[in-house]
Amino acid sequence: MLFPDYRPRRLRKNERLRSMIRETTLSVDDFIYPLFVTHGKGVKKPIQAMPGISQLSTDLLIGEIKEINNLGIPAVLLFGIPEKKDERGSEAYAKEGIIQRAIREIKNNVPEIIVITDVCLCEYTSHGHCGIIKDGDVDNDSTLELLARMALSHVEAGADMVAPSDMMDGRVAEIREYLDGNGYENIPIMSYAAKYASSFYGPFREAAGSSPQFGDRKSYQMDPANSNEAIREVSLDVEEGADIIMVKPAIAYLDIISRIKEEFDLPVAAYNVSGEYAMVKAADKLGFFDGEKVMMECLLSIKRAGADLIVTYFAKEAARILGGKR
Ligand code: PBG
Repeated sequence: MLFPDYRPRRLRKNERLRSMIRETTLSVDDFIYPLFVTHGKGVKKPIQAMPGISQLSTDLLIGEIKEINNLGIPAVLLFGIPEKKDERGSEAYAKEGIIQRAIREIKNNVPEIIVITDVCLCEYTSHGHCGIIKDGDVDNDSTLELLARMALSHVEAGADMVAPSDMMDGRVAEIREYLDGNGYENIPIMSYAAKYASSFYGPFREAAGSSPQFGDRKSYQMDPANSNEAIREVSLDVEEGADIIMVKPAIAYLDIISRIKEEFDLPVAAYNVSGEYAMVKAADKLGFFDGEKVMMECLLSIKRAGADLIVTYFAKEAARILGGKR
């Protein structure tokens, strides 16, 4: 059918008509809200490049969790800022580590919220890399055991799901086996399956204090130029037992989300990362565009590309808009 027989504008005449043929809708159920937990009491330390986001001590965290839960956001993703860092990231898998304590605190107060934990050593190591250093690079195989111990310690503290973000080869299988061996065969793994070595993580590294002290993460995170490699990475994680596969970042990688959604029959998550958040906030502050509208358009686009779940610092704001609670 061609013009003048077919006129696409007929169905765009008003909001009622547009809403009838809308192909994608956002829902608060799609969101996962990241949180940064730190030691101390009454600590709320705003992240400069991420307006509205702060590091919180566990006591203040509970109020935040209640608010998130009341907004209908089903899940949070926890990152920890340890008191002390060392070569092997010991606090990452310590029983009294910051995350382990935060999980217990959350589960004692708001048991129904889904607690997902980031499993990666970079916040906990003195050198800021995601694993153990040998000969100037991150050693893959000796890092696996520490990641598995970290995941188990989170689950023992009450985590509902673990999310390995380190990009070591074989870590999903190692974590799966370790959890199963300890009786946790029902805990899902959301793997950061296609995670790129992206400069969009800049503000996060301030938030989590996890900048590498030498070099960069290009020997383990993916080259932004590659798309076929994402398929290979995701295939491995699926084979190794991942339950949800994640693409990260989101906005600059919508093509990857779309390919992964088409090629794999598993729920797909996308991480709308710190730099993507910071860009919208900064341009809004400068009056360059309507930040709220751009935020909703970004989230909708991530969903349209194929994401079933969106990890986003916008979750609370977007939930308020979707629920008409502003
Ligand atoms: C840990 C991790 C990072 C992010 C999530 N988990 C940082 C990194 O890989 O350097 C980035 C999240 C964001 O930018 O919002 N490895």
